Amino acid sequence: MAKTTASFAERFLFSKPVFYKLKCFLIQTVIWKWILSGLFRMNPRVLSDTDGLFVGQRVLVAACGPGDVTTGPSVDAAAEISAFDISTEVVQACQRNRPTWKVRQADVLHLPYADGEFDVTVIYSALHHIPANAADVLAELARVSSKRVVFMEGVVPPKGLFRRLLLLWYRIVDGGVHYYTREELLEIASKVGLKVERATQHGPIAHMMFAVLGTEPSKNASRSSSNASAR
Ligand SMILES: C[S@@+](CC[C@H](N)C(=O)[O-])C[C@H]1O[C@@H](n2cnc3c(N)ncnc32)[C@H](O)[C@@H]1O
Repeated sequence: MAKTTASFAERFLFSKPVFYKLKCFLIQTVIWKWILSGLFRMNPRVLSDTDGLFVGQRVLVAACGPGDVTTGPSVDAAAEISAFDISTEVVQACQRNRPTWKVRQADVLHLPYADGEFDVTVIYSALHHIPANAADVLAELARVSSKRVVFMEGVVPPKGLFRRLLLLWYRIVDGGVHYYTREELLEIASKVGLKVERATQHGPIAHMMFAVLGTEPSKNASRSSSNASAR
């Protein structure tokens, strides 16, 4: 994360990998699992049917975080796993936590990988922390992925009280720069030339969007025009 533009919440969260791990525990286990799904009996809308996506594939984990927690499905079934993050501390933590992964420091907008070097690239809970438009991020991930780009992202409704409450919550606990709606992300995927194979919503308040985007059709033609997409 670029230290100059990061919010206070981001600087705090990513200053030490243990803070991010604690935050994931508080949100995923305490709030979602114990309080919303347990106490209030809300439907957890668990993400399923993802194993087949990664079996035997060359997978790239983008904006990987420290590697000891994840907000998206495990990629452990992959044949080879590479990963990158922009933060030096996070990369070092991921190298310690995931000794079998090839982890390096990189900016998602300028990846040091060849076209189609991976079969599948995943990016979990990171689009909203990157100041650039999601179109530019997805286009660069698609460049290095021969089959699919997969994302998990917290989305907000287009308007209304629930949107305002979620944005307030994110400002306090997350500090991201841009929270997309489901419709915005689908439109961006389509502008970048990615084929939406799956787009489902998960978690007790259904605010986590999981999408599988095919990169194969008209890949080269679409990549170059992506920078023009509007935020
Ligand atoms: C909320 S964490 C998500 C970590 C992990 N993907 C997960 O699911 O838990 C967001 C990560 O994005 C990384 N990040 C932010 N901007 C980036 C960029 N331009 N390039 C690469 N990584 C970036 C941060 O350093 C941070 O580790």
